[in-house]
Amino acid sequence: MNLLLLSDIHYAGPAETARGGDYEMEAIPNARTRFLARAYRHWFWMRNPLDRTPQFHAFLRQPIEADHVIVNGDFAMDSGFIGVADPACLESARICLEALAQKFGDRLRLVLGDHELGKRTLFSNRGNMSLESWKLATERLRIPSFWQINEGRYVLMGVTSSLITLPAHSADVLPDDQMEWQKLRVNHLDQIRKAFSSLEPDQRVLLFCHDPTALPFLAAEKEIRDRLGQVEQTVIGHLHSDLILWKSRFLAGMPVLRGLGPSVAKMTAALHQAREWAPFKVRLCPALAGIELLNDGGYFMANLDPLGRWPVRFEFYSLPR
Ligand SMILES: [Fe+2]
Ligand SMILES: [Fe+2]
Repeated sequence: MNLLLLSDIHYAGPAETARGGDYEMEAIPNARTRFLARAYRHWFWMRNPLDRTPQFHAFLRQPIEADHVIVNGDFAMDSGFIGVADPACLESARICLEALAQKFGDRLRLVLGDHELGKRTLFSNRGNMSLESWKLATERLRIPSFWQINEGRYVLMGVTSSLITLPAHSADVLPDDQMEWQKLRVNHLDQIRKAFSSLEPDQRVLLFCHDPTALPFLAAEKEIRDRLGQVEQTVIGHLHSDLILWKSRFLAGMPVLRGLGPSVAKMTAALHQAREWAPFKVRLCPALAGIELLNDGGYFMANLDPLGRWPVRFEFYSLPR
């Protein structure tokens, strides 16, 4: 059977498009930081975030058939930095999900990304993880926080990295919301532990998790750690390009840098633990539009044998902007 994997669409609907592609720069109060951020965006990350939207339309025109279509999070642009609680971001996510549902119907499996829920921006302190976004994403947009599909010897499992990484992202959460998020995390980890402890010894897992920062937290759970040998591959998104995955591996183990702001502390803490990603056999599904520097966007097709006679075969289909 065939799986189609894509990630980080970051679609902008009419209201987000009307805000323009400079929204992130406008949120940075410090001129020097703004200059550096602009250079980073211009040469490396994505010159104009709105360029990702025509890429999604180009993808929809591809004649693709698959038994399961797994979209690994970050559906909208999130120009309000609070996820889908921002009506403009909700509109973007809704249009994106409706287009996917129209093309793929009930073969669609969705994974929650950090931008559905909101997060503090990289270069300024605006934004937060919003409980309202959680409600809207899981109830109105019907993105499940956890799912599992059994296909012969394979178990496909989707988890929510933002809940798992909560202890590392406490700066993104408003003080009054901490307890509620913590409760959601406890329930979520319980679901994942149960799924792993009920694996048959001959079953293999394909794990779908938006942000790899979640992996060391999963490895800390005994029930999951004991069955890590059964994970054939973990498909991540979030990093947008294999270049960033490579950089993360290169910098794995680096010390945590404190005193340069919460975002730098958060990022270096994630890199500090990146060595622990190895047993999950990580494969990055790049952003559909890739990054500016490499124009390396696209999607994966994966061929899965339900009898498990061979490992899943992944083939990348490049879709340059
Ligand atoms: Fe993303
Ligand atoms: Fe992300």
